[in-house]
Amino acid sequence: WLKVKSSKIPDGLKRPPGPKPLPIIGNLLDLGRMPHQSLKTMSQTYGDVFQIQIGMRPVVVLSNYDIVRQALLKQGDDFAGRPDLYSFQFVSNGKSIAFSHDHHGVWKPRRKLAQNALRTFSFVQKQDSRYSSVLEQYICEEGDYLVKKIVDIMKSKGSFDPFRYIVVSVTNIICAMCFGQRYSHDDEELLSFVNLSEQFGAVAGNGNPADFIPILRFLPNPAMRKFVDINARFNKFVERIVKDHYRTFDKNNIRDITDSLIEHCQDKKVDENSNIQISDDKIISIVNDLFGAGFDTVTSSMSWALLYLSLYPEIQKKIHEEIDMNVDKQHGPRLSDKSNLPYVEAFILEMLRHSSFVPFTIPHCTTKDTSLNGLYIPKNTCIFINQWQINHDPNHWKDPSSFSPERFLEDGGTSINRALAEKVMIFGMGKRRCIGESIARAEIFLFLTVLLQHLEFYSLPSKPIDLTPKYGLILRHDRFHLGAALRT
Ligand code: HEM
Repeated sequence: WLKVKSSKIPDGLKRPPGPKPLPIIGNLLDLGRMPHQSLKTMSQTYGDVFQIQIGMRPVVVLSNYDIVRQALLKQGDDFAGRPDLYSFQFVSNGKSIAFSHDHHGVWKPRRKLAQNALRTFSFVQKQDSRYSSVLEQYICEEGDYLVKKIVDIMKSKGSFDPFRYIVVSVTNIICAMCFGQRYSHDDEELLSFVNLSEQFGAVAGNGNPADFIPILRFLPNPAMRKFVDINARFNKFVERIVKDHYRTFDKNNIRDITDSLIEHCQDKKVDENSNIQISDDKIISIVNDLFGAGFDTVTSSMSWALLYLSLYPEIQKKIHEEIDMNVDKQHGPRLSDKSNLPYVEAFILEMLRHSSFVPFTIPHCTTKDTSLNGLYIPKNTCIFINQWQINHDPNHWKDPSSFSPERFLEDGGTSINRALAEKVMIFGMGKRRCIGESIARAEIFLFLTVLLQHLEFYSLPSKPIDLTPKYGLILRHDRFHLGAALRT
């Protein structure tokens, strides 16, 4: 970043405007407890492209849909990097596709490998003719199991903690794809890190002080200690499964993503297009990324969905009616029912927009000197992209703070306004766009319809629902308990 500071501004361009930084800490204090909201307020003074300084490091913040499209789509290569942040070295032992700085130019072929592996083990392969894909089968079976589990817990305890049970069901989907196995809802080792994932997000969120102010790494920092611990536990868990896969590997029977990555190491190490060699451990560690990214995000979205459903019973009633009219009760929902369930889809879009539970993308970084809106942005500048602000921009969204699935409906409620749906920004955009998006959307849709076909959720009078989240990579509300009744 010292290189960033010293570069000269080319003629005709200006430095991005921004608040004056304090010595050593820069604008850290201005970020406050809710950086997505503080940065929105700042953008009202400085515009859609502005610069803050966290510690000594300049960070450019992008706050508007059109600017973000310009940067991530039209100038995609310039903005496709990841900054070299301190905390990111602990994720996947510093070999993460999502978080690591691409020192060796292998991010692109690894990303492609990951996308291919996901596709092969989700939408393509069929095992059972009742389902269109293995992914559909996994989600429907796991969803049925979850209904039974919730009914049992309701019988014995009278309420349930949605996150605690959904997290295992969602983890089982990504585990089935990555490792060919599912876990019990009481598996101690699995629970020991999936249940603690908030400690990951608390540190990995944009603006973590220890990433920007080196001295903080040497002072006692409980959040950072927990972050390192949870990453180590996670990596150990995956390492053991990978070792087992190597031991039982049979190239005539590729069971799951881990096997397909082992096969790739043995057969075709060279990427066909770029001729870049990827080391074996960088191939195998792709599974850490897929597993890590695949459970917490989807669980959080389901948990937010149940919260909104309990808060707005009239919306839940409309969903129940739509499912009852359009989904075969014996057969249960399938992905192909989506086109007949526009209200369910509108609800999901509104849940993603309103919660904006991934408030920023993972930080980006410029790969060369570039400019945006006449403002000069040197190579290696850290870039924050405020998804939350884009989803609450009053120029694009009427009454953005109200929760209204109807905003996405057209033709008398029978179809979705696709142009508006595209504007919900929660998976990023362009070259770094989430590679699990279609799997995530399938999971959210199917889990929700399976649950709502059988259950009605309600809040408990003793525990009023509070939507105020805690900030992190993922916005989380406090863990809460709900009631659920079996529908007849
Ligand atoms: C990256 C959101 C589910 C795998 C991302 C990014 C976002 C995101 C915002 C960063 C984009 C950027 O930096 O510009 C979400 C949300 C999900 C979800 C909201 C669920 C509702 C998943 C799933 C998987 C996955 C299920 C895997 C099965 C990844 C990977 C990356 C990524 C590997 C890194 C891509 C790269 O840096 O090239 N996701 N994600 N995500 N996601 Fe997801």
